[in-house]
Amino acid sequence: MTPTDHRTPTDDQTPTDDQTPTDDQPTPAGAGLQRALSAALATVGRNIDAFRDWYPDDTTVENVYRRRASKGGLAEGSNFGWTTSFWPGMLWLSYELTGDDAYRRAGEPLIGDFAERVERRIDLDTHDLGFLYTLACVAPWRLTGDDRAKTAAVEATEHLMARYLEPAGIIQAWGDLHNPEQRGRTIIDSLMNTPLLYWASEVTGDARFAEAAHRHTVQLRDHMIRPDSTTFHTFYWDPTTGEALRGATEQGHGDESCWARGQAWAVYGFALSYRYTSDASLLRAAERCADYFLDHLPADHVAFWDLVFTDGSDAQRDSSAAAIAVCGLDELASWLPEGARRQRYQVAAREILASLAARYSTAGHPESNALLLHGVYDLPKSVGVDEGNLWGDYFYLEALTRATRPGWKPYW
Ligand code: GLY
Repeated sequence: MTPTDHRTPTDDQTPTDDQTPTDDQPTPAGAGLQRALSAALATVGRNIDAFRDWYPDDTTVENVYRRRASKGGLAEGSNFGWTTSFWPGMLWLSYELTGDDAYRRAGEPLIGDFAERVERRIDLDTHDLGFLYTLACVAPWRLTGDDRAKTAAVEATEHLMARYLEPAGIIQAWGDLHNPEQRGRTIIDSLMNTPLLYWASEVTGDARFAEAAHRHTVQLRDHMIRPDSTTFHTFYWDPTTGEALRGATEQGHGDESCWARGQAWAVYGFALSYRYTSDASLLRAAERCADYFLDHLPADHVAFWDLVFTDGSDAQRDSSAAAIAVCGLDELASWLPEGARRQRYQVAAREILASLAARYSTAGHPESNALLLHGVYDLPKSVGVDEGNLWGDYFYLEALTRATRPGWKPYW
């Protein structure tokens, strides 16, 4: 698919370099985070021109996003893979924060890209439809009521629902449903794809979606969290009998280690599922995952790429895991009563975010068009190591939004 050609904001549509959020409420965020937010918004604004005709790749190369590399016959710069929606996600956050129409005008044509992707069934064999359609379509629908966006997101939900396997009660993560290597396998990241299902039940009245999301989440709670509160990255179920079989990793240090980003996905994903279900066991699951994550952070609060590494290690950090964790901790805290646990998560979220802003952001790096430096995509395969990445940037901006807009309603 080629990107639409009507994505052409003129120069006067480009947001100014000095964006200030329109929130006139007093916020607890300090001047440092407000400055970090202004810098992030300015970078997003500059990227509107840069990304006008193509989608950026999953990660930067030497800290600069380039055109998405072609893959499997899909054209360079076109809309495929699991990360393209993080760019419109950043645009919609920026629009919501500032009210500046330039962000909305840049995000709206991308709705057409995503509608076309689902209609033409382009690279849909993935559970990541949740990441993709929540940010590219549910977000604008929530903000502007765009009907095309709603229709595309509901259609994507049907494709996601087709990946729900009984009797295992899980959503298959990767690949064609008939691929024997992938059948019956899910991954911890899948928790972030369930909000699309919950949302679709709300807007269509069809309870199937929410029931599948809840059952899948309960299966992950019961089998992917180990007794010590670490998580497996991936897990296999027998697709015929539904029996839970074994855990394994793809992107972590080892099958038995705790991949930092997976643990962060778990914190946020279980907390979001609680938002929709009020199932207290899911809030408890989020707390367990959060406690392990926080107990294994280095002194500067930004996780190593796998939590097996601790202070004194020269292992890479994963700034994206830290950004996701901030959002997850904030979501989790928002559902807890006043008290020590709630305060622990709020303080930790603020410490991690402050460290990201001070030490990992691109402030002072004008050569970069990312928001965050020092992320890791897939270290065992040497992909995107010590680079910026689209999801890290999105969740950093969401984390800054949460810090400066208490009560902000997530797109998830
Ligand atoms: N969801 C894929 C990743 O976190 O790398």
